[in-house]
Amino acid sequence: MTPVPFSTFSTRRIGVLISARGSNLQSIVDAVAKGCLAATIAVVISNRTDAAGLTWARAAGLDALGLPPRDHPGRDAYDAAIVEQLRARHVELVCLAGFMRLVGPRLLEAFPHRILNIHPSLLPAFPGLDAQRQALEHGVRISGATVHIVTSELDGGPIVAQASVPVLDDDTVDTLAARILIQEHRIYPEAIRDVLAGGWSVQGRRFVRAAIPS
Ligand code: GRF
Repeated sequence: MTPVPFSTFSTRRIGVLISARGSNLQSIVDAVAKGCLAATIAVVISNRTDAAGLTWARAAGLDALGLPPRDHPGRDAYDAAIVEQLRARHVELVCLAGFMRLVGPRLLEAFPHRILNIHPSLLPAFPGLDAQRQALEHGVRISGATVHIVTSELDGGPIVAQASVPVLDDDTVDTLAARILIQEHRIYPEAIRDVLAGGWSVQGRRFVRAAIPS
């Protein structure tokens, strides 16, 4: 398989797509504010106009748009509208942060290998909805969080970062989700920083960082 060439980013402008609470968005904003992540959050887009994360983003002074799918005739048109908003703000990297919609070809082709997602399990285990419930019901002793590059395969793209947490005997979906969320908030800004640093390639299924010259 031909490796995807080494990536470079110049403006480091990111777009964050959300659907609800937006706690991962907040962790990204915090990392930028603390100087741990050299990036500009160019826009926040939510498919739900009532998302708490959208309200929070506006209060934080971010450019934040509610873009309801019902205003567009289909997924392709909706994805095209998202692409238009991202391009208008010169976004280089798109970060899905609890964005509860499948990403269609229009968006994928506009940002090839430039869309990240965070998922609350150790992929490839438990893709899709209710990952924490899936993990609990399966009886795994360890679960966690994964940041990956988005491809057409649901939760199946090259893995950039992972963190594990124990699953405890008395866990509920909520307690497990809370333990995983702490790791999400740690690894997502770090993974964005690594991706924006450039010099990586995708070889087969693998996200490969460039060797540091000695
Ligand atoms: C997180 O658990 C994330 O991994 C998943 O959706 C949840 C979003 O939470 N994709 P928040 O909106 O970032 O608080």
